[in-house]
Amino acid sequence: MSESTFLDILEPWDGVGVLVRRDHPTGTWIFVAIHDDTLGPATGGLRMKVYDRPEDGLRDALRLSEGMTYKWAAMDFPFGGGKTVLAIPRPLDDDERRGLMLRFGALLNSLGGRYGTGADLGTTTRDMQTIAEVSEYVIGVHGRSEGPMDPSPFTALGVFAGIRAAVEHRFDSADLSGRSVFVQGVGAVGAPLAGHLADAGARVLVSDADAAAADRVARACSGSVIAPGHVYSTECDVYAPCAVGATLNTRTIPELRCSIVAGAANNQLETREDAERLSERGILYAPDYVINGGGAMAFTLIYQGLEPISAVENRVLSIGSHLKRIFEESARTACSPLEAARSQAERTLRRGPLDSEMSTFGDIQGRFTR
Ligand code: NAI
Repeated sequence: MSESTFLDILEPWDGVGVLVRRDHPTGTWIFVAIHDDTLGPATGGLRMKVYDRPEDGLRDALRLSEGMTYKWAAMDFPFGGGKTVLAIPRPLDDDERRGLMLRFGALLNSLGGRYGTGADLGTTTRDMQTIAEVSEYVIGVHGRSEGPMDPSPFTALGVFAGIRAAVEHRFDSADLSGRSVFVQGVGAVGAPLAGHLADAGARVLVSDADAAAADRVARACSGSVIAPGHVYSTECDVYAPCAVGATLNTRTIPELRCSIVAGAANNQLETREDAERLSERGILYAPDYVINGGGAMAFTLIYQGLEPISAVENRVLSIGSHLKRIFEESARTACSPLEAARSQAERTLRRGPLDSEMSTFGDIQGRFTR
């Protein structure tokens, strides 16, 4: 079978456009995908990864930028969907990496604020600080002077609020005491999430490819470790995928013994139809791009100057009430929560921006938190 070319991959895509550039010093393909700018300037992370073929990097950029459109629309934040993929040919040394980031910063400037970025898989806040040396279109460097900011604790807080909302919808009480929650993946998000759950009285089960990490977190929250081979068949009230994507599919969904799926991982469903499969099994699903938006939300609010941090946390906790509305619409219209979330986001996109003057990153700075 012949492999797809750039043109094959781009042909069905209905986004605004893609900036493609070859970075000759490192042999990197740069893909800046702007999917939609209805609500504001396209905004989404900078992913750096070695792909088998650069075409796979382009495919990722297109798919992820579309995901960002829905993520921002779900929050009703004045941003559009965008994503950059740096398809590197091999791991880069420090000097090469710095050079690439600076050249990418110059490329960002050429877009004049129509796209802004932040850290993502394979890039760090340090990379963002390098880009910030030459470009203002980067968030996550915390005012450029106060040091880097980690979104993960905010993501964990948002997921925690989402779990409570799902538990309330399913069991008519948000009380987590005695409820069992299984956190798969106890990294930067899963570990603080396990802590919040334990503090709220939940019985915490954890699993991680890194057995030592699983042990450490289980001990810290008086929880239990589940062996990786028993993840899907373990009985629990809530399964919280916080490791990798596509854990919900035709193979795992029939095995699940939970009432709710609500976790941080991106792209939890292997296909969109898996949302229906969960509904058919009576399992309540919290759409990933809604429940895991806390980090992006906090990043943005802090960048916009919202203080104190408790105000940012309160906004992140509002993910719970947003999910409640999605669950209610899903119940009322007999569609899956995924479809209800998509409908809500599409209504927001059709409505358009609340402030049409905010069309670039520069316009937004300092105005959004009024
Ligand atoms: P992380 O890399 O810090 O933690 C992931 C954990 O999962 C690690 O402890 C790793 O050992 C474990 N793991 C990896 N593969 C596994 C497997 N097959 N089975 C069990 N455990 C496995 O990542 P982080 O930042 O905690 O993110 C977790 C998920 O949440 C990812 O899917 C990420 O894309 C998503 N996410 C993270 C956000 C953030 O603010 N960090 C924001 C939105 C989504």
